[in-house]
Amino acid sequence: MVHAPAKEAAAAAIPLLTPYKMGQLELSHRVVLAPLTRCRSYGNVPQPHAAVYYSQRATRGGLLIAEATDISPTAQGYPETPGIYTQQQIEAWKPIVDAVHRKGALFFLQIWHVGRVSTTDFQPNGQAPISSTDKQITPDDSGMVYSKPRRLRTDEIPHIVDDFRRAARNAIEAGFDGVEIHGAHGYLLEQFMKDSSNDRTDEYGGSLENRCRFAVEVIDAVVAEVGAHRVGIRLSPFVDFMDCFDSNPVALGSYMVQQLNKHQGFLYCHMVEPRMAIVEGRRKITHGLLPFRKQFNGTFIAAGGYDLEEGNKVVADGYADLVAYGRLFLANPDLPRRFELDAPLNKYDRSTFYTQDPVVGYTDYPFLEEIDEERIKLGVVNMVQAKAAAAAIQLLAPYKMGRFELSHRVVLAPLTRCRSYGHVPQPHAALYYSQRATNGGLLISEATGVSATGEGYPEIPGVWTRQQVEAWKPIVDTVHRKGALFFCQLAHVGRASTNGNYIYCW
Ligand SMILES: Cc1cc2nc3c(=O)[nH]c(=O)nc-3n(C[C@H](O)[C@H](O)[C@H](O)COP(=O)(O)O)c2cc1C
Repeated sequence: MVHAPAKEAAAAAIPLLTPYKMGQLELSHRVVLAPLTRCRSYGNVPQPHAAVYYSQRATRGGLLIAEATDISPTAQGYPETPGIYTQQQIEAWKPIVDAVHRKGALFFLQIWHVGRVSTTDFQPNGQAPISSTDKQITPDDSGMVYSKPRRLRTDEIPHIVDDFRRAARNAIEAGFDGVEIHGAHGYLLEQFMKDSSNDRTDEYGGSLENRCRFAVEVIDAVVAEVGAHRVGIRLSPFVDFMDCFDSNPVALGSYMVQQLNKHQGFLYCHMVEPRMAIVEGRRKITHGLLPFRKQFNGTFIAAGGYDLEEGNKVVADGYADLVAYGRLFLANPDLPRRFELDAPLNKYDRSTFYTQDPVVGYTDYPFLEEIDEERIKLGVVNMVQAKAAAAAIQLLAPYKMGRFELSHRVVLAPLTRCRSYGHVPQPHAALYYSQRATNGGLLISEATGVSATGEGYPEIPGVWTRQQVEAWKPIVDTVHRKGALFFCQLAHVGRASTNGNYIYCW
C-alpha cells in the first residue's frame, strides 16, 4: 500500500502525471487520449462497444478526445465513422459519455467535415464531395482515389458553419464536456486555410485572412453556441496530409492563434508536430510548435510521435501543458498507469486501426495484469520468481480443472443482475464480464433461463432463442479475449416466479 503523500511525490517526479487546471476543469494528469478514427460506428451511429473502448482508456481526472465525428451527411469520408447530426446519434453517444464520466474522466468530441477527402460512395445521392476547390487529391501509392470535389459556392458556406454550430450543440446535449473543432490534417477547414488547396477568388480565398475566414467563422459560431470554456481546436499548420500544405505555416499558425485569443477563455489549442526529423540516427520531434505555444493564451496540447520521455520533457520545459497520445494510447488502454510504472508497452497493430470488428484491435489490447505490476514494482524481472511469489498465495496458485488450465482459483460466482432487456443479453454485459475477466480465470455467468417458463425475475437473460444465443456471442468473445474461461449457469426458477410482482432478496 503506497501512502497518498508518497504517491503524490512519486507522481511529481513524472511531469506528465502532475495535475493541471484547464480553464475550470481539474485534470489529475496530462496524458490525453488523441482523437482516433476507428471506423466501428455502424450506419454512422456510435455503438455500445465504444463505451467499452473509451471507458477502458478513462481515468479519474484524465482527458479523452473522441474520434472525429461527422457534423452532417456530407461530412463523411471513411467507412462507419460516427455522426452527431441526428437524434439517434445523440442518444447513442449518451451511454458512451456516461461510461467515461463514471470513471471520472473528461470527454471532448472532435467535430469534423472531411471536405474532398471522400468519394461519391460516401455522399448523399452519390454527389461530389464539397471543398474549397474543385482540385482532386492526387492519387498516391496506396491506390486510394478520392473523388473530384465540387467547389462550394460562397452562399453555401454559412450553412456548413451552421452544421458545425449545431454539431457542437448536439455534443453538449449528448453530455460531452466540450468539443474540439477539427481544423487539421487536410480536411475541410484546412482545405480553405492552406494555399496549396485554396484557389478561390471570393472573400474565402487569396489572402491569409481570407483563407482562414471560414475556420474563424466556425470558431466564432461554436463559441457563441456553447461558450469558449467548452471549445478547443486542432490545427496542423506544418503537416502536409491529403495534398494540403502551406507556403508559410508559421504565419498561418500564428494568425489562427491570434483569432483564438480574441475569445476570452478559449479552452485549448491542440497542435500536431511537424514530421519527425532524423537526428543522430534517431527519430526526433522537432518542437516546431514553440512560436504558437508562446502566443496562445489558453491550454496548449502537443501531439505527434510522443513517448514517455519526450512527453515528460515538454511538460517539464513548459513547451506544452498537455500531451496527446494516439497510437500508444490505442494499444495501451492503461497508458497513464504504465507511464507511472515505466512499464513495457503493448505494440500497436496497424492492420486493425480502421477495421470494423467491435473487439479485435479495439477493446482487446491487454491491461497490465496485477502480477505484472507487482513484478515491476518489486523489480522482479524473472517471471518464474513472480509466479512463485503468486503461488505462495494459495488462491492465486494455478489449478487444472479437468482439461482447463486455471491460473488462479478466484471464481466469479453467478450473480443475477436483471439487465438483459427483453431477456436478451445486452452489450453492457460484455463490459461487465470482461472487467472481471483475467487470463486463466473462471467466470460463471448469471442464472440464465432455459425456456420462457424459466424466468422468475425482471430482465434476466435467456439462452433458448437464436437471438439470445447470438447476443451472448460477443459477450463470451470479450471474456475469451482476456484469456478467461466462461461457464453459463442454466436455470429454471420453477415456482420461484410470479405473475409480475417480484419480491426477492439474497
Ligand atoms: C488510427 C488513427 C486514427 C486517427 N484518427 C484521427 C482523428 O479522427 N482525428 C485527428 O485529428 N487525428 C487522428 N489521428 C491522428 C492522431 O490523433 C495523432 O495525432 C497521430 O497518431 C500522431 O500521434 P501519435 O504519434 O501519438 O500516434 C489518427 C491516427 C491514427 C493512428
